[in-house]
Amino acid sequence: MSDKILELNMESLPSPARRKLLAGTGALGLAGFLGGGVSFSALAKVQSAPNGSPLLGFTAIPASTADEITIAPGYRAEVLISWGEPLVDGAPAFDPQGNNSAADQEKQFGDNNDGMSFFALDDNRGVMAINNEYVNEQYLFPHGGSKATSLEDVKKSQAGHGVSIVEVARSEDNRWRVVRPSRYNRRITANTLMHFSGPAAGHAALQTAADPEGKTVLGTFGNCANGKTPWGTYLTCEENFDTYFGTKAADFKPTAQQKRYTLNASEPERNWSDFDDRFDVAKNPNEFNRHGWIVEIDPLDPTSVPVKRTALGRFKHENAAVTVAKSGELVVYMGDDERGEYIYKYVSTGKVDHANPAANKALLDEGTLYVAVFEGDKSGTPLKGTGRWLALVHGQNELTAENGFQSQADILINARAAADVVKATRMDRPEWIAVNPHDGRAYCTLTNNNKRGNEKMPVDAANPRPDNIYGQIIRWDEQGDATAQQFSWDIFVLCGNPIAHPQGVQRGTPNITADNTFNSPDGLGFDSAGRLWILTDGKYSNEGDYQGQGNNQMLVGDPNSGEIRRFMVGPKSCELTGITFTPDYRTMFVNVQHPGEEGDSHFPHNSPRPRSSVIMITREDGGIVGA
Ligand code: FEO
Ligand code: CA
Ligand code: CA
Ligand code: CA
Repeated sequence: MSDKILELNMESLPSPARRKLLAGTGALGLAGFLGGGVSFSALAKVQSAPNGSPLLGFTAIPASTADEITIAPGYRAEVLISWGEPLVDGAPAFDPQGNNSAADQEKQFGDNNDGMSFFALDDNRGVMAINNEYVNEQYLFPHGGSKATSLEDVKKSQAGHGVSIVEVARSEDNRWRVVRPSRYNRRITANTLMHFSGPAAGHAALQTAADPEGKTVLGTFGNCANGKTPWGTYLTCEENFDTYFGTKAADFKPTAQQKRYTLNASEPERNWSDFDDRFDVAKNPNEFNRHGWIVEIDPLDPTSVPVKRTALGRFKHENAAVTVAKSGELVVYMGDDERGEYIYKYVSTGKVDHANPAANKALLDEGTLYVAVFEGDKSGTPLKGTGRWLALVHGQNELTAENGFQSQADILINARAAADVVKATRMDRPEWIAVNPHDGRAYCTLTNNNKRGNEKMPVDAANPRPDNIYGQIIRWDEQGDATAQQFSWDIFVLCGNPIAHPQGVQRGTPNITADNTFNSPDGLGFDSAGRLWILTDGKYSNEGDYQGQGNNQMLVGDPNSGEIRRFMVGPKSCELTGITFTPDYRTMFVNVQHPGEEGDSHFPHNSPRPRSSVIMITREDGGIVGA
């Protein structure tokens, strides 16, 4: 989701005066100023500015504020598909004035494409599963307003959400095109039938009048990022599900659990509940519990029913970074994207059977969910330390009936509350996690946190800056194997802006320079060579704290040297997100999401209404992207 939209829910920002004060304290040593933080002089000792990485084979580009994609020399960035394009049989053409109906949208490519995965059929054909996280109402509705004014508006919004399954084929020059018609093309929306599986399936808190057994549910929405299993299925992650629920009932009082998931029933960000009782929390309180899960989809079987896998816990899921431990278990790293929320890890009980994909389905139902504690380095070195994974298992770590958890299902449905009880570390908004294929080290974007640095949320070793407007990327090495319960960690980059803050902790670590400065790292992905691709969803004012940073962008990091180079910049008021590659790494796909959310873009192709789009990136000489 866009940072701009998230902030509509938030209390007011710190005053400019407070921000100025905090930014100016760096040289004095914030470690002394707020316990657990980091000082500027300590930052400078951690590393020097690296350059000349042999992994990064392209020329860096400057920041840009243009309403177009700019990309490194020798590369092409072209649109594969945009919101509203016909996808399944009988789909009408996109109407640039917004007059397509809800029924039309159900057959067209969804809006706000975010995480996605490429599934190869053969060398020249593939199927892509692409999240449609949310909709830009002002462009979706023909009336141009931000609120639904009818049930038809709500249905169109619901049809713009979910997942699009798209067959693609290679044409010339590593370019790909959408295949239509295709037996694979499919829309999954906020109204598609799904099943629950795992320990919470059938729990009383998941039962509704429409589903007294608590085992089937309609739809998925807020589908932020993704994961891909070794057996060829797609994981879509339900993030800001709370923003779809509301009520007009004057006497409605949210429960503690609803508050823990930030339900704002009287002023929901989206007013589906005005026209669809399923989203009215006074009339259907348990529907709220049926979202916030990870959903498994088989993109190669158009008749398959998606499954919400409850063993992975319920929170505002960003992505699902899947890896296989050396000992064979499936391991899934997951972030909960909200200020002060946690990083989780799921470890399957059984082992992955690469020879028999059907045997692996239980791996996402039977396993242990853990949450992370990050501790500082014992000798006091900043930006590194050790950590532990604490099991969220009924009967362990005080997760007992006395503390309000009657069963494992209770823990999974209220994973945030369980993680509170075990005293996990509150992080600066965990977004994507990616695992380096070469050494198994996991990287997580902590996008920003303007509420860090007070009594409620003090700075700590892993989240060392107050008023963290720029974000950081943290990484950890498991002790032995991905199933380990202990790890060591360090900060790969503390983002910052040396143009706005030549001194002080808001400058960032030395691998941030005036040439690569950026804020709010969000999307993250490794290619097979071990290049770390970093996509941003941050402030694009290009002024003040953000001067010289331009529009949201994609950069590439060398995990060994720490060098970071800017590769691509998006059009106006978009975020760049969602990253996947063809198996030969000669085509990369990236998403331009919500271009023109400030009303200032005509992306792509001078469109009257700006359109989120999947972008295909290739090298003019046909080489491997990034090399
Ligand atoms: Fe959908 Fe946390 O980004
Ligand atoms: Ca997003
Ligand atoms: Ca994100
Ligand atoms: Ca974000």
